[in-house]
Amino acid sequence: MSKEAIIFEQVSKTFPKSANPSVNETSLIIPQGSFVTILGASGCGKTTLLKMVNRIIEPTAGTISIFGKDIRSLPVTELRRSIGYVIQQVGLFPHLSIEQNIATVPNILGWERQKTAERIDYLMDLVHLPASYKKLYPRQLSGGQQQRVGIARAMAGDPAILLMDEPFGAIDAITRTKLQDDFKQIQRELGKTVLFVTHDVEEAMKLGDHMIVMNEGTIQQYDTPLAIMSNPNNAFVSQLIQADDLFQQLHLIRAEEKMIALEEPAGSDIPRIPAGDSLKSALQILLQQNVPYVAVENKEHEIIGKITLEQLKLQNGR
Ligand SMILES: Nc1ncnc2c1ncn2[C@@H]1O[C@H](COP(=O)(O)OP(=O)(O)OP(=O)(O)O)[C@@H](O)[C@H]1O
Ligand SMILES: [Mg+2]
Repeated sequence: MSKEAIIFEQVSKTFPKSANPSVNETSLIIPQGSFVTILGASGCGKTTLLKMVNRIIEPTAGTISIFGKDIRSLPVTELRRSIGYVIQQVGLFPHLSIEQNIATVPNILGWERQKTAERIDYLMDLVHLPASYKKLYPRQLSGGQQQRVGIARAMAGDPAILLMDEPFGAIDAITRTKLQDDFKQIQRELGKTVLFVTHDVEEAMKLGDHMIVMNEGTIQQYDTPLAIMSNPNNAFVSQLIQADDLFQQLHLIRAEEKMIALEEPAGSDIPRIPAGDSLKSALQILLQQNVPYVAVENKEHEIIGKITLEQLKLQNGR
């Protein structure tokens, strides 16, 4: 297998009767196992970019390959089965039960009943849904629970690539945080390659090991969240992520001023910073190391509190 999961080469999409391309001469390399978030305002071409990967939309120019193969050389059905897709607005089949929804791809693939049943159990457990929900219908679940089913369904055929279009868009903040944390852990454990569209800056930074910032069909910057924050390519990127403001604010505040109590002793893998360090260093560590929090220690190297990404978000006023 190639180390690159997805490659875009000079890909454009201009819809019929449109004056401007929705996606314009885009080249991109998505390494295998990476979690890439795509951030941009409404209408900038995020969904179009995503849908070209599974050929729901055909590019007007350029080439897309997955694992070294031009996607036009693969039968469309086979291509789509090998890519999990979570659409904007969940899109569960309302007349099918939860287990039937999750079994969609296994059924198309003609799996034996036993294998499909085991897969359903495994996936429901993975996304933290009780097995008792199997026979329920989507309308009987909350929005957040439906999102979990959507993720389970997308992962049913064990695809190497997942395309996710604002999957947590319509979810309240608390449920969303939980879904984000759970999904990030699943992705890390299973090593999936994820292309994840969002227009939430914090979500893009928290989930992505890399981040694409788009505007009017063009990629403005593709880099790690930290690099984008500390070194935005242009005024658009800078404004979108409010990088200057955030960094200035965080630089002026000491960790001990904002830390919160630790509920349990910090594990040995948790990074530590001195109480007098700024929140900016805490943020850098949080983004680089992808840990749930940074421990704050006093001069005696005793842990006296912690800083989480959630707190830094509040700090930023969003
Ligand atoms: N089927 C279509 N026919 C014509 N124009 C389209 C079609 N789909 C999308 N477009 C246009 O392409 C542009 C990009 O649309 P796209 O759906 O990719 O945006 P988006 O970034 O996903 O926006 P949002 O955040 O609102 O979902 C828009 O101007 C849209 O009107
Ligand atoms: Mg969209």
